Amino acid sequence: MSLTFAPSSANSLPLYLVTPDGLDAIKARLTTTQSQWIEAHGFTGKSGEVCVLPDENGIAGAIAGLGNGAVRQRTRFALASVRSKLPEGVFHLETDLTGTALAEQALGWLLAGYVFDKYASATAPKARLVAPGGIDALRLETIAAGEALTRDLINTPASDMGPDELEAAARGVAEQFDAGVSVVKGEALLTENFPMIHAVGRASPRAPRLIEMTWGQSGPKLTLVGKGVCFDTGGLNIKPGASMGLMKKDMGGAATVLGLAQMIMALGLDVQLRVLIPAVENSISGESFRPQDILTSRKGLTVEINNTDAEGRLVLADALALADEGDADLIISMATLTGAARVAVGPDLAPFYATTPKDAAAVMAGAANAADPVWQMPFWEPYEKMIEPGIADLDNAPSGGFAGSITAALFLRRFVTQTPRYMHFDIYGWNPAAAPARPKGGVGQGARALLDALSDLLPL
Ligand code: BES
Ligand code: MN
Ligand code: ZN
Repeated sequence: MSLTFAPSSANSLPLYLVTPDGLDAIKARLTTTQSQWIEAHGFTGKSGEVCVLPDENGIAGAIAGLGNGAVRQRTRFALASVRSKLPEGVFHLETDLTGTALAEQALGWLLAGYVFDKYASATAPKARLVAPGGIDALRLETIAAGEALTRDLINTPASDMGPDELEAAARGVAEQFDAGVSVVKGEALLTENFPMIHAVGRASPRAPRLIEMTWGQSGPKLTLVGKGVCFDTGGLNIKPGASMGLMKKDMGGAATVLGLAQMIMALGLDVQLRVLIPAVENSISGESFRPQDILTSRKGLTVEINNTDAEGRLVLADALALADEGDADLIISMATLTGAARVAVGPDLAPFYATTPKDAAAVMAGAANAADPVWQMPFWEPYEKMIEPGIADLDNAPSGGFAGSITAALFLRRFVTQTPRYMHFDIYGWNPAAAPARPKGGVGQGARALLDALSDLLPL
């Protein structure tokens, strides 16, 4: 698996990037034979089309289609889809793309090198690319490595990715950058006052825990909180089979914040980073927490359990309360929190919530730059009453089921009262159908948008 660029080489072959409109101009630069060759192969410059160019020595290069403007609105990473169709060899781009458009294609190329081959061999593409001029190659490689980490963590099944293994993964990332790690585990969650993390995780023989990673001595304080539900059965409110099928990915928030943390540390950004991951398995046993139980959270707010399947907000609440006790400049949570988010925006877009319009705008701009689409949703105050059950301060699963992603976000926000700037991403973490640069399976969402926005979000 290669997620890096090739060293530049005198022997690299040209890879022409063309749009249907620009095809004639490129043809003028090819030999007559090559021009006739691509015509004979029906190459028109559509997105994902590729044609290897011959010459008397064999392969002279290749030409790849990006599609016209309308298609490019629909398809990210057009170049990624041609990588696996190219023969082994080192290519360099011939293109008039610049800036973020060029960076998108270069990143797509790198991400197309990702394969998940832990359990069966898989063929990675053989073609390599010299880093195009005018892009920050090291930064893109760092982003690709962070994304690969996220994907690996999500793709690994719960049998090999329980709370222990998620902790080991966090320790592995921390070690590379000399970050500190501390873990509060099992019964210590009760003495250290993380009652809801304990309640959700206590039914599993794999002990629940809160993982904390800290890095950086100077700069603004950024705290990332990621949902680490290593498997979500739903608990006593057990999920039907079809809904449980993908629940190994319920630690997608943790996987994504770890990927983002790795990017931040590898780039050596001047931030004081804190990562909090409540890692649990929402399992079923005689120890399970029950519907109508009332839990007292770390923050002191009481929560009536109306559905044990709304567990993510419970473990996040205690982690967010801890985050809020620090003096962070910005707290961001990422979680595969609600099915409702998926109904609203589908698997490609990550809905997010922000307490300040300025932060939201920065993330929207970052998303466009980084080809990592997100969409703002509202912390809609009038729905606050939906999460107030009457006999406790909060209800974890409002009846009626309206606005499920919003009410979950409002629930989380109740635990962030000292830190004015809070953002929450209700991600899916899974790509249901293979797309360029994104194979079917685990996928990061929002991390690249945030990384891009970071210099606007925090005075770095
Ligand atoms: N992990 C799920 C949310 C989820 C489901 C994300 C499917 C992505 C795909 C979460 O723990 C959950 O079960 N949420 C419930 C909440 C409800 C009971 C209030 C949901 O969304 O149905
Ligand atoms: Mn659940
Ligand atoms: Zn869940």
